[in-house]
Amino acid sequence: MWDRLLTDCRVATMAAAPGNPLGIVENAAIGIDGGRVVRVGKRTELAGFRAKEVTALGGSWVTPGLVDCHTHLVFGGTRSGEHAMRRAGASYEDIARAGGGIASTVAATKAASADELEQSARCRLHALMRGGVTTIEIKSGYGLDTASEMRLLNAARTIGRGEPVRIVTTLLAAHALPPDAKEGPARDAYVKMIAEEMIPAVAKAGLASSVDAFCESIAFTPAEVERVFAAARANGLPVRLHAEQLSNQKGAELAAKYKALSADHLEHLDAAGARAMGAAGTVAVLLPGAFYALNEKKKPPVQLLRDAGVPIAIASDCNPGTSPVLNPQLVMNMACTLFGLTPEEAIAGMTINAARALGLAHEVGTIEAGKAADLCVWRINEPAELGYWVGLMPERRFFGGMDS
Ligand code: NIG
Ligand code: FE
Repeated sequence: MWDRLLTDCRVATMAAAPGNPLGIVENAAIGIDGGRVVRVGKRTELAGFRAKEVTALGGSWVTPGLVDCHTHLVFGGTRSGEHAMRRAGASYEDIARAGGGIASTVAATKAASADELEQSARCRLHALMRGGVTTIEIKSGYGLDTASEMRLLNAARTIGRGEPVRIVTTLLAAHALPPDAKEGPARDAYVKMIAEEMIPAVAKAGLASSVDAFCESIAFTPAEVERVFAAARANGLPVRLHAEQLSNQKGAELAAKYKALSADHLEHLDAAGARAMGAAGTVAVLLPGAFYALNEKKKPPVQLLRDAGVPIAIASDCNPGTSPVLNPQLVMNMACTLFGLTPEEAIAGMTINAARALGLAHEVGTIEAGKAADLCVWRINEPAELGYWVGLMPERRFFGGMDS
C-alpha cells in the first residue's frame, strides 16, 4: 500500500517524449511512497493500487516543484540606493568602480549578526517557496575570506532546516576582489587563497556542491578563473561560471573545457561559446531578472543555444544588487517576454533544465518514478499559463509527498 495517491489531475511530468515536450498526462494519477513518486500515469492505469491517503485535485495541473538554480540569497543590507543611481545613468561597472556593488554587500554582510543574516534570508526563501520553489541553489560570495564564505554557506544550510525545501550550496569566493586585493601581489594572493585554502576547506567540510566564479572585466580574468576551476577539480567539486554577462571573455568556452554544470547570464555569448557548451553538456542558465534590473539591451543569443542543443535553464538570480527578484512566475514571464523563450521552454527552464544545472536531474525536475515527490498544483487551464501570469502561486505544494 502506497502512502499517497493523487487523482483527478492533469500532469506536466516534464519528462519529454516525441511530440509531447512537457510529458503531459491527462486524466492522471500519481502514486507516492516514502517521499518518492512510484508511478505516474492515467488514472485507469493506477486503478488497482491502494494508498493510505487519496487526494483528489479537482482537475488542477501538477508540475514538478520549481527549481531556482542560481541565487545569492544570503546577504546583509540591501542596495536600494543603487537602483536610484542606475536610474540617474550609472552603469553596473560605474557603481562597482565607485566602491558600491558587490563590495558594499560584502561590508554589510560582515556587519550583520548571524540572526540578522538568517532572518532576512529566510524571509526571501519563504517568498520563493510560496511561488512554488522546492529546490533552491544558494551561493556564497559576500564573504571573500575563508571564515566568512564558510559562514554564508553554513547560514544557507541552516535556513533550510525543518523547511519543506531542498537547499544546494555553491562556493562563490571568486565573486569579487576584496578592496585591499584588487591588483598586484595581493590580487594574486587572493586567487591563491581561493585555490589552496578555501576550496579545500569547503570541500573537506562538505559545505558546497559546486564552485562558481565571476569571469568579467570588473571581476576575475579567465586565467584566474582557470586556477579556481583546477582547484575545484582537484578537490572533486564540479564548477559553474558567471560568464559573458557584461562582455565576451570567452568564459563559456572555459566553462565547457572544465565540463561545467552551467554557464550563467550569457548575454554576450558567441556561436563558438554556444557550440562548446553544447558539446560539453553545459547548461545555459539565463537570468532575466538581472537583465531587467540593469536595463540591459543585449539579450542572450537564445537561438544560438537552441541550435547548439544547449539545455536552457532560468533562475531568479535573487541578489541585492542586480536582481532583487523573489517570484518564480515573474522569472518565467520575463524569460518569455524579454528573451523570447516559449512558455514550454520557460517551464523546462525552472524544472528539468534547472535540475540539470545543479547536477540533480536524477532526483528532481520531472515527475517520474524514483524521483522526489516535490510537486506544485496549479489552478490553470494549460501549462503555458505559467509563463503568462505574473505572481501566480500554486494552490498546493507537496514536498517529499507531504503537503507543505
Ligand atoms: O549574478 N554577476 C555577478 N553576480 C551577481 C550580482 C551580485 C551582486 O551584484 O551583488 C549576479 O548578477
Ligand atoms: Fe549571480
